[in-house]
Amino acid sequence: MDPRSAAPGTLDPASLATAFAAAFPDHVDPAELGIVRAPGRVNLIGEHTDYNEGLVLPAAIDLEVRIARRTRSDRRVRVALATTGEVAELDLDRIGPATGNWLDYIAGTALEMIKAGLPTVGFDGVLASTVPQASGLSSSAALELAAVWALSPVDGPSADPMTLARIAQRAENRYVGVQCGLMDQFASANGVAGSAVMLDCRSLEHHPVPLPDELVVVVAHTGMPRTLGTSEYNARRADCERAVASLAAVEPGVRSLRDVDRAMLERHADRIDPVAARRAEHVVDENARVIATEAALGAGDLDEIGRLFAASHASLRDLFEVSSPELDALVEIAAEVPGVVASRMTGAGFGGCTVSLARPDSVDALRTQILNEYPSRTGRTPRVWQVWAADGAGPVER
Ligand code: GLA
Repeated sequence: MDPRSAAPGTLDPASLATAFAAAFPDHVDPAELGIVRAPGRVNLIGEHTDYNEGLVLPAAIDLEVRIARRTRSDRRVRVALATTGEVAELDLDRIGPATGNWLDYIAGTALEMIKAGLPTVGFDGVLASTVPQASGLSSSAALELAAVWALSPVDGPSADPMTLARIAQRAENRYVGVQCGLMDQFASANGVAGSAVMLDCRSLEHHPVPLPDELVVVVAHTGMPRTLGTSEYNARRADCERAVASLAAVEPGVRSLRDVDRAMLERHADRIDPVAARRAEHVVDENARVIATEAALGAGDLDEIGRLFAASHASLRDLFEVSSPELDALVEIAAEVPGVVASRMTGAGFGGCTVSLARPDSVDALRTQILNEYPSRTGRTPRVWQVWAADGAGPVER
């Protein structure tokens, strides 16, 4: 594991063991606890492309979910929150419908693992997280992937990370009821320390894209949760599907926006309603920007990376219409700080976070500038983290 990702405070093994002993006084030997982890993610570029069979470039990050667990000989699962001590339970042979609380992510994951024929085990565990919730940093995907590992026998799950990501995505789609694409679960399962990971959401081909040594990743939170997010997210998916249906009527080869290019959009502009056309234009151009960003990262062309991030943000604001005044303010503030190379909103939008790539010696100035300017511009309290690209989910070696 990346040594810089050493978990602070709440995630360290001693704190988890203390929380475990408080929740489950019947088993207190910390040596018996296995710890599993799964990271959140930040998407560098490729937004609202995953459910259009497009390209994405996320990185797993060192904000993560950990579960310290002791397997049981029966099929019960008891999980305590490290923060509050609240305990929730389920029986792996009798998983009921979703109830709307955090246990749903574990129950839904268990159900999809069982349906996929993966072995599952009962356990007692404590759950701790440093991924802020409802922030666009994929706390849900991190919880699902941590659950995959905690629910698996001690030698780990018997499937590759991509299969695990798809199981976790199905848990979110079918049990939790959120129609997300594959990006978040993919990143949490397949992260590579020091790299972003390019995923082709049609072929599922993926490969690491090393981050240049001269850049660090900074995430800034608007202080706004993604409250409106779910209904608007589903509306954007429907807009994209409408564009595909209009084009498929005249272009038989079109199954998704991945089959569409600029020329085709222009040729059939009168057939697509204007809202669907704007969404499609964003997706088509964003796929091209992912390819260009990978090339620019490889070449160390920092100016080009800056232009691509700025174009992505403008497109998400003006064409896809998922930004917000708060996200725009954070991007505008970052653009004025010398040494900040690139900045854009990240994740679904409607609140949540921006991602910036910056020279290491500009991070303090970026943080100061955001803390000074953002509250008076928006009336909100921001949070700023420097994050490191981390490995995907797995056991914590001790
Ligand atoms: C959310 C979803 C992802 C993806 C992004 C937008 O994070 O969970 O699947 O669609 O929004 O890029």
